Amino acid sequence: MVMASLDKETIVWITGASSGIGEALAKAWSAEGARVVLSSRKQNELERVKSACACPEKCHIVLLDLADPDSLDAAAKTVLETFGHVDVLVNNGGISQRSLVSETPMEIDRKIMQVDYFGGVQLAKAVLPSMIERKKGHFVAISSIVGVFGFPYRSAYSAAKHAMHGFYETLRAENSSHGIKVTVVCPGRILTQVSLHALRADGKEYGIMDHAQKNGISAEDCARRIMKAVRKGKKETYVCRKDVLMVYFRRYIPALYYILVGKVKPN
Ligand SMILES: NC(=O)c1ccc[n+]([C@@H]2O[C@H](COP(=O)([O-])OP(=O)(O)OC[C@H]3O[C@@H](n4cnc5c(N)ncnc54)[C@H](OP(=O)(O)O)[C@@H]3O)[C@@H](O)[C@H]2O)c1
Repeated sequence: MVMASLDKETIVWITGASSGIGEALAKAWSAEGARVVLSSRKQNELERVKSACACPEKCHIVLLDLADPDSLDAAAKTVLETFGHVDVLVNNGGISQRSLVSETPMEIDRKIMQVDYFGGVQLAKAVLPSMIERKKGHFVAISSIVGVFGFPYRSAYSAAKHAMHGFYETLRAENSSHGIKVTVVCPGRILTQVSLHALRADGKEYGIMDHAQKNGISAEDCARRIMKAVRKGKKETYVCRKDVLMVYFRRYIPALYYILVGKVKPN
C-alpha cells in the first residue's frame, strides 16, 4: 500500500539506518517506493541494508558521524545538492547509556548529548530552510519513553531525549504555519542492539543484551507503528507495551513512579 501522503519521489533521510529501528524504517519506506537516504558511520552495514531494501536503486548511502559536526555539515550539503530537498528527516541515530550519575565523567555526558541531541538538531537546521521554502516537510524525532521521565543509569541519555521534546515542540510551533510537521516518537523496549552499544562510565560499550530489550517489540513492528503515526501526522506517539505505564505513573501518580524508579537495577 502506498502511503496517502507520500508520492514515489518522496525523499526520506534516515540517520541510524544501519541497524534496529532505522534499518526497519528504511526497509518500510523503501517498500512504499520512497527515495531513501541511509546514514550512519558504517558503510558495510548500510550497504547490507540497501541491498535488503525493496528498491535498492532508490536508496543512497551518505556516511556521517553524529559526534562530528563537520561530517554532518558535509552530509547535509551532499543530500541537499543531490536531491534539492528532503521531505522527511528521521533523526533516529543514537546511543544509550548504562552508568550512574556519580561515576559518569562529563565527557560521556557531552558525547551522548552530541550524538543523541545536537547531531540531529544540526541536521534539522540544515534542511529546515528548504522545507520552509517549499512549504512542506516532516521531522520524525526518535525520542524514548525516558524522554518523558528520568530513569537510573540513563542520566545523559534521558536528558538528551528530554531535550529533543523541547526542541521539536518549538520547531513545530514556529513552523506549522509553513506546512511543516513534527512527529516525536517515544519507543519503550524495542528488540535492537541499543543496549549492546550503550556507553559505560569508562566510555566502553556495555555489551549486554538487556532482558527487557530481548523481549521487546520487534524493530519491524516498531517501524510499522511509526509509519502509521507519520501518515496520520501525529504530533507524538508511544511505541510501547506495558512499559507505557511508567509514563502514566509519572504523569498521574508520581508518588508511585518515584517508588518504582528507585528500585531499578542495571538491566
Ligand atoms: N531499542 C530501544 O528499546 C529504544 C527505545 C527507545 C528509543 N530508542 C531510540 O531508537 C533509536 C535507534 O536505536 P536502536 O534501538 O535501533 O539501536 P541500534 O540498533 O543500536 O541502532 C542505533 C543506530 O544509531 C547509529 N549511530 C550510533 N552512533 C552514531 C553516530 N555517532 N553517528 C551516526 N550514527 C550513529 C548506529 O549506526 P552506526 O553504528 O553504523 O553508526 C545505528 O544505526 C535511538 O535514538 C534510540 O535512542 C531505542
